[in-house]
Parts: sequence; structure tokens; C-alpha cells
Amino acid sequence: MDIKKLFSVEGKKGFITGGSQGIGECLAGAFSELGAEVAIVARGLDRARDTADKISSKTGKKVIAYKCDAASPDDVAAMTDSFVKDFGRIDFAICNAGICAMDAFLDIEPKTYESVVDVNLNGVFYTAQAAARQMVKQGGGGSIISTASMSAHIINKPQTIAAYCASKAGVVHLMKGMAAELAKYKIRANSVSPGYIQTELIASLKDYLKTWLELMPEGGRLGYPEDLIGTYVFLASEASAWITGADIVIDGGYTIL
Ligand SMILES: NC(=O)c1ccc[n+]([C@@H]2O[C@H](COP(=O)([O-])OP(=O)(O)OC[C@H]3O[C@@H](n4cnc5c(N)ncnc54)[C@H](O)[C@@H]3O)[C@@H](O)[C@H]2O)c1
Repeated sequence: MDIKKLFSVEGKKGFITGGSQGIGECLAGAFSELGAEVAIVARGLDRARDTADKISSKTGKKVIAYKCDAASPDDVAAMTDSFVKDFGRIDFAICNAGICAMDAFLDIEPKTYESVVDVNLNGVFYTAQAAARQMVKQGGGGSIISTASMSAHIINKPQTIAAYCASKAGVVHLMKGMAAELAKYKIRANSVSPGYIQTELIASLKDYLKTWLELMPEGGRLGYPEDLIGTYVFLASEASAWITGADIVIDGGYTIL
């Protein structure tokens, strides 16, 4: 067995939603450095292009930016069409775009609640479905990886994010449902559930840091996007060929206590 090939993503082609910053940007850079061809999918084209250019000038690999609202089925269909025209096929899709609203359960407006579910759950549904349809068209095979959260498993405190937690729990179970239906096409669907990762998403929550660290095993720390690279690469590689419908929690031990 060629072990290096087993863990390789070289030559694989895939897109990353929410890829212009934070976790998505880090993953796009890592996959590109490992020889994959990637697309940065984001609502804002300028930042996505900047990120794509920065990565491709470092790695010398093909990186393209697409403007797409993950919560819009029409945008997602247009984006996957462009991806297939530009790259030829889809080997992996990372459904990672997400937002959070801090409104308390008793106060949250329907519009805010709906926007969280629209991006975090519906957006994952639309992008994963579009990728899976293309993978079936290609004759099967492929890996779909969605970014859920440890919030799918626990309720965070002290922040009030019931809608976020519910949307992420939905992502974990959506991947299981997809995994069951897509196994016959050799398409795998898994989720990754990060703990607190230092990105813009939690940048305004610095006051909570002390509480969060107290809730972790002694000596704990917040995560960096780089802490997630190994798992996403593994899930896109053949080394995880028999893993589907799984959720992998990466949280520095937060959820064990
Ligand atoms: N940072 C954390 O602590 C943490 C923990 C667990 C899970 N997550 C999840 O990780 C994912 C990435 O978050 P991050 O920490 O990098 O945050 P981030 O805010 O830096 O990045 C989120 C990205 O998603 C994009 N996005 C938002 N709505 C979109 C839409 N409708 N269509 C397309 N793109 C859209 C944003 O523009 C941004 O690029 C999210 O799903 C988030 O919920 C983050």
C-alpha cells in the first residue's frame, strides 16, 4: 500500500464556502499547498479574489474565487456550473460558510433566526446537494465535509445562541442522512465540529474568554484554524475511505467536561 498516496489530496479539485477568511481561508491555503485545486466561494468577490490570489501566488496552484450566497439555491447552482467548467470535476466540497446571532431566545426576531438557519443549515444543504449531484453525474465518488460546531453537541455559555446551536445540530444529522443515501454512489458525507477557534466570528467575544477557559480541561486554550487542517485533509483523502456519516469534534477537550 502506498501510504503517502492514501493521505494525499494532490490533484483533487474542490470548493470551500466561506473560504475568503477564517477557517475557510486556512483550509483553502492548506489544500492548495498540498497540491489540490481549490475555489474560494464567498458573498464578497473582492475579498475572495484577494485570498485566491494570495494563495495561488504562494503555492503556484490553480485557485479561483466565485461570488455566491450559500443560502441561495440559484447562486449555488450557478457557482457549481462555473466550477465544473473551470476545473472539470468536483472531488470534494467543504460546506463551511456560517454566521452567528447572539440574540436571546425570548428576544430573537423571526428574520434573525431565519438568517442563521438559512446560512448555516439551508446553505449547507444547497451546496452539499449541488456537489453531490455533480459527483453522481461524474460516475460517483467524492467527499463532502461540512463545518458544524461543538455547539451541535453542547449549549455554549455565557452567550445565548440557541438558533446557532440548533442549526449546527441540523448539519451533523444532515450529513448522516446524506451519507446513508449517497453511499451507493461512493460519496461520503461527514461533519467537523470545532470548539472555539480564533477567527472574526468570535473576535467580539473576548470578555467570555475566562469563562470558556474555566470550562475546559486545565491548561486548555482556544483553537487556531490550523488545528483543523489535519481532519479536513484526512476526510478529503482516501485514508478516510470507510468513514461516512461521522462527526469529528475538535475542541481541545471542551465537550468532555
Ligand atoms: N470560530 C469558531 O469558534 C467556530 C467554532 C465552531 C464552528 N465554526 C464554524 O466555522 C465556519 C467558519 O467560521 P469562521 O470562524 O471561519 O468565521 P468567519 O466569520 O471568519 O468566516 C465565515 C465565512 O462565511 C462566510 N459567509 C457567511 N454567510 C455566507 C453566505 N450566505 N454565503 C457565503 N459565504 C458566507 C463569511 O463571509 C465568511 O467568509 C462557520 O460555519 C462557523 O459557524 C466556527
